[in-house]
Amino acid sequence: MGTTMTTADSTETLQIARTCPYAPPEQHLRLLREQPVAEVTLPGGSNAWVATRYQDIRKVLSDPRFSADRRNPNAPKLNGEMGAGESPLPKMMLEMDPPEHGHARRAVIGEFTVRRMAALKPRIQQIVDEHLDAMLAGPNPVDLVQALALPVPSLVICELLGVPYEEHDFFQTHSAQLLNHTITAEERQHSALELVIYLDKLIKAKEENPTDDLLGRQVRKQRENGEVDHGGLLSLAFLLLIAGHETTANMISLGTYMLLQHPESLEALRADPDKTAGAVEELLRHFTIAEFAIMRVALEDVEFGDTVIPAGSGVLTLANAGNRDPEAFEDPEAFDIERDARSHLAFGFGPHQCLGQSLARVELEIVFSTLFRRIPSLRLAVPAEELAFKDEASVYGMHELPVTW
Ligand code: HEM
Repeated sequence: MGTTMTTADSTETLQIARTCPYAPPEQHLRLLREQPVAEVTLPGGSNAWVATRYQDIRKVLSDPRFSADRRNPNAPKLNGEMGAGESPLPKMMLEMDPPEHGHARRAVIGEFTVRRMAALKPRIQQIVDEHLDAMLAGPNPVDLVQALALPVPSLVICELLGVPYEEHDFFQTHSAQLLNHTITAEERQHSALELVIYLDKLIKAKEENPTDDLLGRQVRKQRENGEVDHGGLLSLAFLLLIAGHETTANMISLGTYMLLQHPESLEALRADPDKTAGAVEELLRHFTIAEFAIMRVALEDVEFGDTVIPAGSGVLTLANAGNRDPEAFEDPEAFDIERDARSHLAFGFGPHQCLGQSLARVELEIVFSTLFRRIPSLRLAVPAEELAFKDEASVYGMHELPVTW
């Protein structure tokens, strides 16, 4: 263990829930100002280190002395997460270190290129339009989460992977449970197991009869190169299904809410739809919904100025605070769709930076530009104070977004 500079309040309990929907807890901003690399106690009782500065977060996420293996017993546990050896799945890409990680990522990266995602635009536009047609023909007010935010990314990822969308109730329920850190580890494990059993059957069917979708193409490619790695495909399908719909769905509801609360930004977008891509980046920066989905373990002592994160420590990068670091973003608290926010940390950084980011961007751009063009009178159907946010989930979002027009 190296020399560790800690201060008296260095083991305060880390606050997870936000008090303001789009700002990090005040504690995280204080740490950013006063003690940017700090040891804290997690709500479950164990200790971990947090990094809050933009540059320090980039260092943690790109330095090979930090492992992404969340099955390491020292990985931060927000509330008794599944520990080592308890997962019913072979390791997912998200949890791998080099060289295993590069191998797994290179096998699918071709499916997620900017060009590939641009080719999906017409189909995504069609899916969005069909859902808006149904919404306009149905009851008013409506919950935008159920009418649009959840089904659009869910349908897109199902088509991409080759998972029957008819089963979406089943996997939406279980994937939401997996990201819920207020339920017990056993309950989460039950949901993981249900999903594994389901995907195991689906992949076996594709191994017998490879379909023309991401999973079918992986089966064919693996067979050409030797043997099919069933466990590897299971982990891949599991990760993409979970990562591919909850995240984007939450950004659709939060982004809609935010733009409705900022009529001047909405007006600017309507006047010039080319500003949508920039608005999406600023929304991603502002909400940084997946910061608690990122965790690392220090494999060696690592210095950050005078502070040393000792080998064996669990580390959380508080990217929502990092995205408000004044050294990285001028006037960081301001919501400004005209700023260049592309270098934000909402998709992480380094070798594990979000594989699906181009897809998420395409989906969000199409949803926001279409929604506000087709329903110019869209507004909240309840006072903003009554809206319920997902404080209990490791990916932030909204439970419901009642809207009217
Ligand atoms: C990784 C956020 C959408 C697939 C990540 C990471 C973040 C993130 C922060 C890094 C995790 C780490 O460093 O440990 C988001 C956000 C999204 C989104 C905010 C939507 C707004 C998607 C979509 C997909 C996806 C649509 C798939 C279609 C993945 C995968 C990884 C990942 C496979 C692991 C990459 C690796 O380990 O190399 N995402 N994500 N994500 N994301 Fe996303």
